[in-house]
Amino acid sequence: MNSKLIAPSLLAADFANLQRDIEMVNQSEADWFHIDIMDGVFVPNISFGMPVLQAIQKHAKKTLDVHLMIVDPDRYIKTFADLGSDVLTVHYEACPHLHRTLQAIKAEGMKAGVSLNPHTNVSLLEDTINDIDLVLIMSVNPGFGGQSFIENTYEKVKQLKELINRKGAKTIIEIDGGVTNKNAKQLVDAGADVLVAGSYVFKSDHQLETIKDLKSIVNL
Ligand code: DX5
Ligand code: ZN
Repeated sequence: MNSKLIAPSLLAADFANLQRDIEMVNQSEADWFHIDIMDGVFVPNISFGMPVLQAIQKHAKKTLDVHLMIVDPDRYIKTFADLGSDVLTVHYEACPHLHRTLQAIKAEGMKAGVSLNPHTNVSLLEDTINDIDLVLIMSVNPGFGGQSFIENTYEKVKQLKELINRKGAKTIIEIDGGVTNKNAKQLVDAGADVLVAGSYVFKSDHQLETIKDLKSIVNL
């Protein structure tokens, strides 16, 4: 992928002004909406579910990048397709039959993503990488916004890039957690294609400019 993408995470938006924050992203130079779905079981937090995604989808005019932090995601693949998800990412750690799950996501017309927790080694994707459209590397432990970036992520991105190249896969690499203007360039240089940013964008006093800056840093 040539142009590098920015995906603001709505988890950090003001939920009482969600439409306003969605319009901000629509008007910005951001590329995707990152949507975090948490079930309070796979991760120790609950975010929001289908009715909220349905409301988001009505206003969002960009790619919907849905990150499922839930157990047994197979139960909801069709539901998330019907809600307009373009990319559906499941966790490696939540999928005992990952290959089947990936095929089911693609059968619903979505791009299939796999996310790795910080402790999960990229080599575990050796046998599935050619079936995966996107790998989401967690650069914090999933469950909460606003945590600090784990430095070992750079090394994981390099390992993943090497695996993708070696297998001749078309997989793109997304990074999620603690992304700021301080680590964005180094992540892209290591091989990242898409950067998720929650707090860094939404806690900024100048959100449009913050997105614009991030977008220019990663495409230098
Ligand atoms: C964390 C979520 C992230 C989160 C990132 O479990 O998957 O998408 O919103 O938030 P920041 O950018 O604040 O770390
Ligand atoms: Zn996420």
